[in-house]
Amino acid sequence: MVSEHVITSAAQVLVASNRGPVSYALSEDGSISARRGGGGLVSGLSAVEDKLWVCAALGDGDRVAVRRGIAEPGVRMLDIDADVHADAYNGIANSVLWFVHHMLYQTPLEPVFDAEFRRQWASFEAYNLAFAQALAEEAGEGAAVLVQDYHLALVPGMLRDLRPDLRIGHFSHTPWAPVDYFRLLPDDIAEQLLRGMLGADRVGFLTRRWADAFTACCTEVLGGTGRTRTGVHGLGADADFLRRRAHEADVDERMAILREQVGGTGRKTIVRVDRTELSKNIVRGLLAYRELLNTRPQWRERVVHVAFAYPSRQDLAVYREYTAEVQRLADDINEAYGTPDWTPVLLHVNDDFARSLGAYRLADVALVNPIRDGMNLVAKEVPVVSDQGCALVLSREAGAYEELGADAIVVNPYDVSATAVALHEALTMPDGERAERSKRLAAAATALPPQRWFLEQLEALRRD
Ligand code: F6P
Repeated sequence: MVSEHVITSAAQVLVASNRGPVSYALSEDGSISARRGGGGLVSGLSAVEDKLWVCAALGDGDRVAVRRGIAEPGVRMLDIDADVHADAYNGIANSVLWFVHHMLYQTPLEPVFDAEFRRQWASFEAYNLAFAQALAEEAGEGAAVLVQDYHLALVPGMLRDLRPDLRIGHFSHTPWAPVDYFRLLPDDIAEQLLRGMLGADRVGFLTRRWADAFTACCTEVLGGTGRTRTGVHGLGADADFLRRRAHEADVDERMAILREQVGGTGRKTIVRVDRTELSKNIVRGLLAYRELLNTRPQWRERVVHVAFAYPSRQDLAVYREYTAEVQRLADDINEAYGTPDWTPVLLHVNDDFARSLGAYRLADVALVNPIRDGMNLVAKEVPVVSDQGCALVLSREAGAYEELGADAIVVNPYDVSATAVALHEALTMPDGERAERSKRLAAAATALPPQRWFLEQLEALRRD
């Protein structure tokens, strides 16, 4: 049965995600400019024909573009009411679902599931329905639809009701919560989320651990996963793109500036690059660095912590406070330990991809210590790009641990003292060992490049 929805085009492969591959900026003179993003899906989709990407308008520029009929070929941006979108994205997706899957609540006081939560949940349903309806209109007969992430967890079930002929996949880029934590959610909401996802023929995860957690939740809450299959697809780094991009002139320039800021001859670098994201554990990373300088004063003036923390989700007060705490702690460390010739922490908060690649290239140590992370591509990218090979200090709670753990120095992300010891170990790793480990890390990190990652999912969806 094809529902009463009018099929307006006949795309055979559709992707749906909150954030799309393009965003629009509105300048003061009223003109609109497009900015194209990158990432695994962009590169994966580039390999297929008859495709459509359905995404949400996120800011004013996007909304104006939609209303003026400005669109990239192959992209349909949904102009969902701004308040509904804010409730769904900030209120539910990022303040509830993200917190559940990353286990971020301070449970004595939160979460609180009250009438306000129910109001926001209704917006989340409306936002998911808008996606399901758009996909139902756009998909050709029997098309494959790949729905992305926790924002759109209800879409597969809604779309299945509208278009039973479609092959529907869902992919989670986040971890999945353990059963006991998932059950913080009100029972009916937990059930609705799982049933929404199980509307898919296939649900995909970045690691076996997250797939098993999802299955365990389905078993506990619903008694099983029904006919839905689960798959694991560990997105890897895009080696060809990174190696080429990291040697362009703008990266060389940024590297020269960074080298100057690091200063000193033979000074080592501990590099981290993250969004200012609660789950990335930037504050404990700084605490560990401070403990290193305290307990092993031989490192003073001999190492610099290059920390890039790019603004993220600044509509949420808790993210703004976290960003301020990162800044405050970096300033404290610089004040307490800095000398006229040495700034212990180089903190940059303005997003600059070329500078990030420059930092990757000169990293002696990469610090990747998230509380919990679906994968963490930085852990995979630094070894690929670094000039001399880098030692990787890696949280066992990052998805990347499954593939990179053997050649990383592994830490419990809550254990600041152990992280300080790990940093010392990483800084003192003999050059030969570091280069060897880095080579193996790079090989593991690039095992499943983005295009293959995407095409494997598509094939599995059409086959299973
Ligand atoms: O990887 C999880 C994810 O939520 C993606 O869906 C998203 O694009 C990314 O993190 C960044 O988050 P946001 O889109 O909220 O800025």
